[in-house]
Amino acid sequence: MSLPKAELHLHIEGTLEPELAFALAARNGVTLPFADTEELRHAYSFSDLQSFLDLYYALMAVLRTEQDFADLADAYLARAAGQGVRHAEIFFDPQAHTARGVEIGTVVEGLSRALERSEERYGISTQLIMCFLRDEPAASALETFEAAGPHLHRISGVGLDSAEVGNPPAKFREVYELAAAAGLRRVAHAGEEGPAEYIREALDVLGVERIDHGLRCLEDQELVARLVREQVPLTLCPLSNVRLRCIDTLADHPLRRMLDAGLLVTVNSDDPAYFGGYVEDNFTALRDALGLDRETLRTLAANSFKAAFLDEPRRRALL
Ligand code: HPA
Ligand code: ZN
Repeated sequence: MSLPKAELHLHIEGTLEPELAFALAARNGVTLPFADTEELRHAYSFSDLQSFLDLYYALMAVLRTEQDFADLADAYLARAAGQGVRHAEIFFDPQAHTARGVEIGTVVEGLSRALERSEERYGISTQLIMCFLRDEPAASALETFEAAGPHLHRISGVGLDSAEVGNPPAKFREVYELAAAAGLRRVAHAGEEGPAEYIREALDVLGVERIDHGLRCLEDQELVARLVREQVPLTLCPLSNVRLRCIDTLADHPLRRMLDAGLLVTVNSDDPAYFGGYVEDNFTALRDALGLDRETLRTLAANSFKAAFLDEPRRRALL
């Protein structure tokens, strides 16, 4: 039976399964550059982060209305419930939609329609984290933050994603300052393809409370010591790391080494429709590849609740 857990690194657009993509394409009169779901699945062979991002952004063309975003989120929550998820902190990429003429309100209100019913329907509490695309200019992130103003009551935090190398965290200092002043939580992808230095910068310049991925911290022992000392959570995504060629095979994943070093690591799914599995599938694949025992799996599940932005009564209830 799957352990109760929190999912802390999940891009809602990355839960768009081929079947739903074609259903929404038909509903919205959008033509996809693939004949059918089988041909689309064949495109799921990535050489790095950018090759994935190209397909990820292209498929979003099918998401147009509030109902599309509600259907997307509801499909994720239904699957997550079956994988033991009791709390989900969900990323979304507003600029990937506003750039196509879909307003941010359509995205946030559509997602919220599904999230509002999640506790009652699936027993999953939820939060929304708005991510800025780091390969877009800082001015675009600032415009996005301003456009999100009327919807901020639905948003718990901000994050930073998309193409990492060459787009250091410090580029987004100003918008993170505004987010902090608005009382939002802060996270950022760092150390997935980018260097360990980006992790340090995300902590020091952006004031983030969690690091998404963070795998490359292992190249800097002083940084590892700090992450251990400060118990900064890292949201690892093992199947994503293999599919995007950050590591060769799951057997090479440094998770055990990270746990032994005292790092607060969690296991998550990133973009499950693209990377071959939802969060419990990541747990199971790691267990099989690394020979993790039940106690280690329990530690990982407990870490997910420790690292979550939960209020204390709910955290205690879930731990
Ligand atoms: N890394 C960076 N950006 C992303 C990812 C990722 O793994 N998934 C969706 N956007
Ligand atoms: Zn991610």
